[in-house]
Amino acid sequence: MSELNSIALKIISNGKGILAADESTATMSKRLEAVNVPSTPENRLSFRQTLFSSSSMSDCIGGVILYDETIKQRLLNKKNVPELITSVNSVPGIKVDTGAKILANSPNEKITEGLDGLRDRLKEYYKLGARFTKWRGVYNITKEHPSKLAIHSNAHALARYSALVQECNMVPIVEPEVLMDGNHSAQDCLIKTTEVIKRCFEELILHKIDLTGVILKPNMILAGTDSGKKIPGKEVAKLTIECLKNSVPSEVPGIAFLSGGQAEVEATENLNLINKENKTNFIMTYSYGRALQQSALKYWSKNLNDIEGTQKVFNHRAKMNTLAAKSEWSKELEN
Ligand code: 13P
Repeated sequence: MSELNSIALKIISNGKGILAADESTATMSKRLEAVNVPSTPENRLSFRQTLFSSSSMSDCIGGVILYDETIKQRLLNKKNVPELITSVNSVPGIKVDTGAKILANSPNEKITEGLDGLRDRLKEYYKLGARFTKWRGVYNITKEHPSKLAIHSNAHALARYSALVQECNMVPIVEPEVLMDGNHSAQDCLIKTTEVIKRCFEELILHKIDLTGVILKPNMILAGTDSGKKIPGKEVAKLTIECLKNSVPSEVPGIAFLSGGQAEVEATENLNLINKENKTNFIMTYSYGRALQQSALKYWSKNLNDIEGTQKVFNHRAKMNTLAAKSEWSKELEN
């Protein structure tokens, strides 16, 4: 087993999933301001540290994706955040893209930036303790989109990113997110997501990526939020597995879904159904941001000193998702 493969497996095996706490300062500020908490560096650290010190971390959270600000912050005991995460047997990770910008010659689409200077930034993140990374490409579905140009250019960037990350002995999370915004059907989402993921792996193979040391972070197959054609969870599971079976090379050890704006319990239920249906060899787990943090953030915002109460809310969500990653979740357990 290669070192990269064993890091990947440590993060996603035995029902463990990933906590995506890598919101940029701009996004985190929006989340905090929405619950009337001032977005200061201290408050951003305080909420995140509360989650990272929760008791569910060691059993449920195999890896945490951090943002540049957080990975460099010092705790009161002078330790840094990666040391805290490692001390609870979880793996620190880092978002390394610098965001999605307008794609030249296709102004309604995005290209993710961040390749310039990446090799040096990766070395720094490795020294700070990171052992895996994330890069998100983003695609929207309309009649004309995603265009061949967006599919190709984002796949190319994801492959160049992955090569640099593996060169630095870290596991790249490859995240091509086909957004759920829009009025497309689930069938459209299936077709477009399959095409996007296939193209990503073609490019990863061209760039000689060790696929056993990669984690794919895709969207589930859903109908667009404005379509009014929401499909049942069982159908989500069936289509999602069909998509991944047809697009992901068998060497890839695992898949960790993003929640993408689904409600917390919905994201858990869909993951559980996916694992019930999963006959592939891929591990299928979660890499949730909003669907792991929303309730905890809301609770915390009412009393910033209630660490224990906040952790209780977070522990519950983490446990529910870990059960779903083992297809052992049921609705009754939510109460
Ligand atoms: P959500 O689960 O909130 O979609 O966030 C996951 C993520 O990391 C997006 O890049």
